[in-house]
Amino acid sequence: LQTLTFDSAQEGSIEIAREIADLIRDKAEKGEKAVLGLATGSSPLKVYDELIRMHKEDGLSFKNVVTFNLDEYYPMQPESVHSYVRFMKENLFDHIDIDMKNVHIPDGTLDIKDIYAFCAEYEQKIKAAGGLDIQILGIGRTGHIGFNEPGSTETSRTRLVTLDALTRKDAAAGFGGLDNVPRRAITMGVGIIMKARRIVMMAWGSGKAQIVGRMTEGEISDKVPATFLQKHENVTVFLDEPASQELT
Ligand code: F6R
Repeated sequence: LQTLTFDSAQEGSIEIAREIADLIRDKAEKGEKAVLGLATGSSPLKVYDELIRMHKEDGLSFKNVVTFNLDEYYPMQPESVHSYVRFMKENLFDHIDIDMKNVHIPDGTLDIKDIYAFCAEYEQKIKAAGGLDIQILGIGRTGHIGFNEPGSTETSRTRLVTLDALTRKDAAAGFGGLDNVPRRAITMGVGIIMKARRIVMMAWGSGKAQIVGRMTEGEISDKVPATFLQKHENVTVFLDEPASQELT
């Protein structure tokens, strides 16, 4: 696990956006598609801002980009202000030239009986696209990646999960109260995240310091699913100073 500490989230985010842009351009030169695993939440917002800026000012095109988002609340309607579909449109897709046919986000509107098949197909689509070239991750204070909460194993599949109480508490403000936060979500499993050829994890702010310390230096265990990243050979953790303060 490589960790890099930046003076600000802004500087770290620009570095991540550069890496993504380089990947997209390299792939485009070879006539190939770049396959990106994307995250929602506050952590990647500045990365998406920078990618939008690169599209508008530097001519970076997303025509050859395929994306798979990590997760979506369940149940969730795509038009809801709380949906990750809406989040991705407002914070990235509406501002770039991506073909929406190449965008994949877990479907929060499914009938419960159809979720298992949907999840298997989601992983199949990632494989058919050639696998994830890069996976962008944030970390929850429970140590979740995607919505793989404590107890999620290293080989866990894409599936319907129950959100941890702390995760729901952290989401409560955005939902106007804990009671409005969904209890479940559909998430890419740890197994498929670990198959990404490159993983970029980011954590900003002192609220993440403790879990970042456990992720990078703690015992590898399903008690903190992010610790499985210690076993991946191509992960970089991007931090600002406050998020890095528990590192030895
Ligand atoms: C979001 C996701 C989550 C978040 C994590 C951190 O798609 O999969 O794992 O990355 O909960 O959230 P923020 O960035 O809001 O602190």
